[in-house]
Amino acid sequence: MTAPALRLRGVCAAYDRIEVLRGVDLDVPAGSVVALLGPNGAGKSTTLAVVSGQMRPTSGSVEMAGCDVVGASPDALARAGVCMVPEGRGIFPNLTVTENIKLLSHFGVKTGHALDVAFEHFPRLKERRKVLAGRLSGGEQQMLALARALATDPALILLDELSMGLAPTIVEHLYEQVTALARTGVSILLVEQFASVVLDIADHVAVMSHGRVQAEGRPEDVAATLSTAYLGDAS
Ligand SMILES: Nc1ncnc2c1ncn2[C@@H]1O[C@H](COP(=O)(O)OP(=O)(O)OP(=O)(O)O)[C@@H](O)[C@H]1O
Ligand SMILES: [Mg+2]
Repeated sequence: MTAPALRLRGVCAAYDRIEVLRGVDLDVPAGSVVALLGPNGAGKSTTLAVVSGQMRPTSGSVEMAGCDVVGASPDALARAGVCMVPEGRGIFPNLTVTENIKLLSHFGVKTGHALDVAFEHFPRLKERRKVLAGRLSGGEQQMLALARALATDPALILLDELSMGLAPTIVEHLYEQVTALARTGVSILLVEQFASVVLDIADHVAVMSHGRVQAEGRPEDVAATLSTAYLGDAS
């Protein structure tokens, strides 16, 4: 069997001395969409910070395609194909759509290729190519963030709360693109607070609370656990 795109075992991480990840175990099989769900403060974004190299775990292992990557820099991980779309999208509001995509040349991405990939996946962005990113709708901004991610030919995409502030139909459209990507072999770890938007598209769901994955499985199997994680231990 091929090694998973991403494997976390017993990952602990802390801000100063406050431990927020307390032994995270998580697998993202190659070419699959894994949803990491959980309430506010569960540790989801911190998990992505560890995976993208922005935060070093205090213990535990992080492997990508079977290789230990603990201690690798965000740049090194980006070169290895890890692409993070952060909460808030990470685009430049005072630059046009085209300029935002062209900036990828700083990371060694060829501009012509980047524009082709972006506009092929999101024709809407081509129509809006001369518009300042800050003047795009929320959905278009998220398309731009995704397009920038795609243009780097990533192996593993990390998506933090793609749905934030967007209408459900737009979120659905964006996640359709995400599933299409996974079918091309890209592995995807996405984070959301609310389950319903992703239960239809994820291959695998992990439910996180209090710095740990408390349950995981196929979407239909973890639905019951989700309500417990959100509502607390209402016993
Ligand atoms: N920079 C930071 N410094 C100190 N504590 C932090 C920092 N960032 C997050 N925390 C704390 O770490 C815990 C986990 O936060 P994290 O952002 O990973 O949660 P999350 O699951 O992404 O939540 P949300 O759904 O609100 O985005 C929280 O208690 C949070 O207050
Ligand atoms: Mg978060």
